[in-house]
Amino acid sequence: MTDNAPSAQEVTLHNGVVMPTIAFGCAFGDWVGATEFQGFLPEQAWRAVSLALDNGYRAFDGARAYGTERIVGTLLGQRFASGELTREELFITTKLAHPAAPPHINISHRRTWDADKVDDIAQKVRDDMVDTLDDLGLGYVDLLLMHWPGGFGEHTSSDPDFPRKARAAIWRAFCGLADKGAARAIGVSNFTIAHLRQLMEDVPEPEYRPTVNQLEMHPYCRDPELESFCRDQGIVVTAYAPFASGAFGMLRDPVLATIAERHGKTPGQVVLRWHVQSGRTALPKTTKAVRMVENRDIYDFTLNNDEMQAIDALGDGQARRTCPDPSTVA
Ligand SMILES: NC(=O)c1ccc[n+]([C@@H]2O[C@H](COP(=O)([O-])OP(=O)(O)OC[C@H]3O[C@@H](n4cnc5c(N)ncnc54)[C@H](OP(=O)(O)O)[C@@H]3O)[C@@H](O)[C@H]2O)c1
Repeated sequence: MTDNAPSAQEVTLHNGVVMPTIAFGCAFGDWVGATEFQGFLPEQAWRAVSLALDNGYRAFDGARAYGTERIVGTLLGQRFASGELTREELFITTKLAHPAAPPHINISHRRTWDADKVDDIAQKVRDDMVDTLDDLGLGYVDLLLMHWPGGFGEHTSSDPDFPRKARAAIWRAFCGLADKGAARAIGVSNFTIAHLRQLMEDVPEPEYRPTVNQLEMHPYCRDPELESFCRDQGIVVTAYAPFASGAFGMLRDPVLATIAERHGKTPGQVVLRWHVQSGRTALPKTTKAVRMVENRDIYDFTLNNDEMQAIDALGDGQARRTCPDPSTVA
């Protein structure tokens, strides 16, 4: 299926590129609610990504900041070498332009951005992209996303319009990379309606409209207004942290447990099914083979309207987030 009916296994982006609705999340570690030194643990990717390939995953969501692209590239290379896999079977996403992380999160400053210290934003984007493609051992990615709308630069800049200008410059560089074939599609992540409106004003060409907005979305964190704005603009919403990164005891919520029991499925499968029936794509991450299988086995049952509404209602009120609230980004 390649139509955009809710719950199809693939969606077609506005530029015609076909994207799977479920991709394997390639950020490993524990950064939720962290105050002690911790964060990414890329070493977990070796076994997990290898198992994910064994278990049929062909779409992988990565980012320069995660430190896992060399590992993913090596594992893909082994399968290219054995003839088990071809490039055309894969859908590879990367993200560039992650803001500097708080000191207790172990992301290298070489993987993050402080735009105030960057002389030439377009050149920095191109250099980062070369490094990412080198790590992946690929000539192009299927989807290139701007990781965050900011957090880079504005605190040290005297120009209040700086974040907006930086976003437009990054985006123009992305458009150049897409034109050259280094990315089949380009999009954004953690963008609010205001960020999207500004970007589409600053870069108005319809062919350069973002194809995807990757957002924190799970039953405890929804934003119907932003989702409906994206839908109206033909921008596909991808749910990151689709299980709330395992936080808040969300997968033990009695509402999810009851629905899961009714369908003979697990709460994780119910959550993923809710995502795709809501018209989103999703990025489940797990280190366990049994859950990898489970997280792809979501296309043989349907949630009814009452069940969809009951899960929607869990996210009414204050959103519970595992990542910062993008609406705080200027
Ligand atoms: N754009 C952004 O700013 C951004 C931010 C965060 C994340 N992301 C992307 O989203 C991906 C997923 O987010 P995430 O890694 O934070 O978390 P997640 O996928 O929401 O949750 C992962 C947690 O759920 C557990 N889990 C996985 N499948 C399960 C199942 N079927 N039943 C019960 N528990 C299950 C995992 O444990 P086990 O590993 O022990 O199975 C882990 O603790 C990331 O890897 C990354 O690609 C993007």
